[in-house]
Amino acid sequence: MSYAAMRSIGAYVPKRILSNQDLAAMVDTSDEWIVKRTGIQERRIAAQDETTSDMGAKAAQIAIERSGVNKSDIDMLICATISPDYFNMPSTATLIATKLGLGQISAFDISAACTGFVYVLSIAKAFIESGMKKNILIIGAEKLSAITDYSDRTTCILFGDGAGAAMICATNDASEAIRDVNTGSDGTYADLLMTPNGGSGSIHDSPERDKVFMQMKGNETFKVAVRTLTADVQELLHKNGVQTAQIKHFVPHQANYRIIKAVGDALGLDEAQVVLTVGKYGNTSGASIPMAINDIYESGRLAKGDLLLLDAFGGGLTWGSALLPFAGK
Ligand code: UT7
Repeated sequence: MSYAAMRSIGAYVPKRILSNQDLAAMVDTSDEWIVKRTGIQERRIAAQDETTSDMGAKAAQIAIERSGVNKSDIDMLICATISPDYFNMPSTATLIATKLGLGQISAFDISAACTGFVYVLSIAKAFIESGMKKNILIIGAEKLSAITDYSDRTTCILFGDGAGAAMICATNDASEAIRDVNTGSDGTYADLLMTPNGGSGSIHDSPERDKVFMQMKGNETFKVAVRTLTADVQELLHKNGVQTAQIKHFVPHQANYRIIKAVGDALGLDEAQVVLTVGKYGNTSGASIPMAINDIYESGRLAKGDLLLLDAFGGGLTWGSALLPFAGK
């Protein structure tokens, strides 16, 4: 039996910083409110001509180089995004594959909002364990600034742009294996977080049809997030006989510091176990978890064999968690 291992990680963040002070000049908000309610100090914003696939390709190039896998040996590329270069085709994955010179490989996008990276991890694991593929490049990439309404203070303070990528490879070494991935959804909560316009669900002659901005019922989402994230992780740990003390790094989706703190406390995690990037990058949806893993990798805090616990929650609603050792150098 072949196992699937996370062989490398990479990320890219655009240069431009949008600070809380910048936002306070645009909408009725303040640095104090944003920091107190979310923990966010700043977020990155892509250049006008910089696309989701540009950022995804840059993150992926780094992940490829760190993995030591030859480009000709990569046999699948999956991109998680809710801000694709184009609604709805071509997929961002095919554009990234071409930018990287990967040839005519299998490439597709998935839509699971902020849980996207956990979903692509589960898909990659299944393809590799079944023996169908050997080296799968998974990417979470978002240009959320393109679907953010900068006149809506309840959402525009939260979101940022960026990309993260990981190489998932076949291995015979069970100690390197991704141990388990949980994914779930509940469409009865679909209206909590959505882009109501632009799709087949929107009215054709509506003047709003072209406004593909995100809308969120923040406070309700917050409560469901804390409940679902905690329960999902407890189930995963229980199923795998793992104690929280064995987790080296808890990498939650970076939506709001208060959500992360509430879940960390409910799970009995120590602050040193919890990875936090929300302060400097805000919420980058499907890109947030790989960007956070890359952050601990680049700061020298992530070593081969460290047990990672991933936990995400987002539009759909969707949620997911994963338990895996880092198998890179
Ligand atoms: O990534 C996918 C999942 N997403 C999430 O998990 C996000 C979850 N939600 C949140 O992070 C939080 O709900 C928010 C940060 C969005 C909002 O924080 P909150 O503590 O839930 O605030 P609230 O929505 O209950 O609003 C409290 C007050 C309201 O004013 P009133 O009605 O009390 O007078 C809002 O109008 O804060 C007001 N408000 C703001 N004030 C200043 C809302 N946004 C702002 C703002 N600046 N940007």
